[in-house]
Amino acid sequence: MKIKKAVFPVAGLGTRFIPATKAMAKEMLPVVDKPLIQYAVEEAFDAGIEQIIFVTGRGKKALEDHFDRCFEVELTLQNKGKKDLLKQIQELVPKTGTIVYTRQNEPLGLGHAIWCARDIVGDEPFAVLLADDLIQTNKPVLTEMVKKFDRFRASIAAVMEVEKDQTDKYGILDASQLEKNIFRINDMVEKPAPKDAPSNLAIVGRYILTPTIFKHLGKKKTGAGGEIQLTDAMKSLLKEQPVFGYKFEGTRFDCGDKAGFQMANLAFALERPDMRDKLIHFIKEIQKDF
Ligand code: UTP
Repeated sequence: MKIKKAVFPVAGLGTRFIPATKAMAKEMLPVVDKPLIQYAVEEAFDAGIEQIIFVTGRGKKALEDHFDRCFEVELTLQNKGKKDLLKQIQELVPKTGTIVYTRQNEPLGLGHAIWCARDIVGDEPFAVLLADDLIQTNKPVLTEMVKKFDRFRASIAAVMEVEKDQTDKYGILDASQLEKNIFRINDMVEKPAPKDAPSNLAIVGRYILTPTIFKHLGKKKTGAGGEIQLTDAMKSLLKEQPVFGYKFEGTRFDCGDKAGFQMANLAFALERPDMRDKLIHFIKEIQKDF
């Protein structure tokens, strides 16, 4: 079965980014000149996704407007002859009817946000993308995961190795390596202290899940941080179905964290020919003061 739907939970409070996120979803923060959510939506369409499901909270309006047409701006760009910019903003609007919005009334956790999309997803496997996990790579992660799904026909989470003292920031795997970048997950723990971590393999924000996950999310078990965690539901899913880990190639930036966000901006800006030289010059200059 083809993966046609992708869920984007965008209802978190983004407390690490207050005050920027007081009235706006953190997924609308721009890296260089594109909001985080646009990178994730483009990754999903490139992987063959046909329907985008946003689980929103506050900041919904800016997000909706971003993926809608804006005739005023279009007209102005047209009148000024700015054809490239006009094309850009027209192309980022998905075909009518491909975006669906639902609301998470209370920020009860990532697991709960995904559960809010259960009726829209229905009885088919689907993708989940956390836009604040931005990944710089030549091998787009969701596209690779869709290929793995075609092979294994089972749930898959994107994973990466983290420093041993960082395990308390992630869902950590107990897993057996099957191939160079494929793991069979035996168990998982949400945010373990380094001494309790079964490995340094951490889950990051790309998943393909079978619809059975909704049964486990529906138990609404409260886990780490008092939130309904996706990791707990996946742990329970493991008891009835295999779940795999895909170790992706590339660099992941935690854009929900202020330092991670700045690093992402620098890394993505350095890829732009129009900015690269200026930035390198600036870095060399300020480096003298380090
Ligand atoms: P985070 O764990 O980063 O939480 O969420 P957060 O609330 O957004 O941010 P901080 O920790 O307070 O700074 C991971 C993803 O899950 C979504 C977020 O929007 C983000 O994409 N999420 C989280 C929800 O949609 N609902 C929730 O209740 C919690």
